[in-house]
Amino acid sequence: MNQAPHILIVGSGSVGRRHARNFSALGCSVSCVDPRAERRQELAREAKAHAGYPEIGAALGADRFDGVVICSPPHVHVDQALAALRAGIPVLLEKPVSPDLGSAARLEAGARAESVPVLLGYTWRWWPPLRRVRELLDACVIGELRHVQFHMSAHLADWHPWERYQDFFMASSTEGGGALLDESHWIDLALWMFGMPEKLSGRIDKLSSLEIETDDNVDVLMAYPGGLRVSLHLDLYGRPHEKFIRFVGEFGSMLWTAAPNQIAIGTKPEGWDRIEAFECERNDMFVDVAREFLALLDGDGAQPTCSLADGLRVLTVIEAIRRSSADGSSVTVSP
Ligand SMILES: NC(=O)c1ccc[n+]([C@@H]2O[C@H](COP(=O)([O-])OP(=O)(O)OC[C@H]3O[C@@H](n4cnc5c(N)ncnc54)[C@H](O)[C@@H]3O)[C@@H](O)[C@H]2O)c1
Repeated sequence: MNQAPHILIVGSGSVGRRHARNFSALGCSVSCVDPRAERRQELAREAKAHAGYPEIGAALGADRFDGVVICSPPHVHVDQALAALRAGIPVLLEKPVSPDLGSAARLEAGARAESVPVLLGYTWRWWPPLRRVRELLDACVIGELRHVQFHMSAHLADWHPWERYQDFFMASSTEGGGALLDESHWIDLALWMFGMPEKLSGRIDKLSSLEIETDDNVDVLMAYPGGLRVSLHLDLYGRPHEKFIRFVGEFGSMLWTAAPNQIAIGTKPEGWDRIEAFECERNDMFVDVAREFLALLDGDGAQPTCSLADGLRVLTVIEAIRRSSADGSSVTVSP
């Protein structure tokens, strides 16, 4: 590409501002969309953006863009991504693809028909310590895996200190908030590491006193062929915040933690044999996503680290969890 790529950020909230700053730092020119004027102004100030529009149609009609980054609430992801793809513009789509599998399948069909690429932002796939975890699993450092526990706990009121959590899309079921959809990062990581489970059972609840219409607690048990069990706990009320994945194999255990930023491996009854510590910071994974998107705009032809098909697999599991939670059954997951 000869000129600086022109990137349109759709949704100028928390992650939209982050992407805007990163694309601007990587030499792109940036424009933005948000129905809220003060959000557009804030993004423009932070990322030296050129123009702001109240909705995506106005932006696509007014200028030429090389890439569109969708950072709006999930209920509008599909229609906005389709608008960009129909204009022939590649899309970086924030997770989840949408609140339900049916609308996500509509987007996948549209992307195929237009033959325009989509990169999906399940950003933890770009986190170096988790890439290292995959290498260690491939090297079988703790032997045959038997149980894996995914744990994510973070009080919603701490997420966006600049606004009331009751006003944030996370509180709204129509906009696609809640623990199951928003923290589907951890479902995506399970599928990235182990593929689709054979069966699962799950419960989706609203347990805490948070003033939200959405779920704040999800517990899932997934069964894989060959005797691997994967459990997943997501909540929106826990303090201190905690993200970890514990892998238990025949020879020992491995513990990945976000804080401290490390992987610990142990094979004895007490203590860890070895700890690998990392220096990376949260924004690094968003910068790496932006770099991959810019390479895709240049037509590098590489397989995306995270595709629309990956996002549909996550929604297939989400819908299986919903079915299981609704009737208390164990559900067979379609591959
Ligand atoms: N990959 C990650 O780690 C990560 C991190 C944070 C958020 N996200 C995802 O990014 C999306 C946004 O999350 P957020 O935390 O930035 O939310 P946010 O509420 O801070 O920002 C969303 C913005 O979208 C705007 N908006 C609402 N309707 C719109 C429309 N029709 N068109 C354009 N803009 C519209 C809102 O006014 C708001 O400013 C969600 O899908 C979320 O799951 C991903």
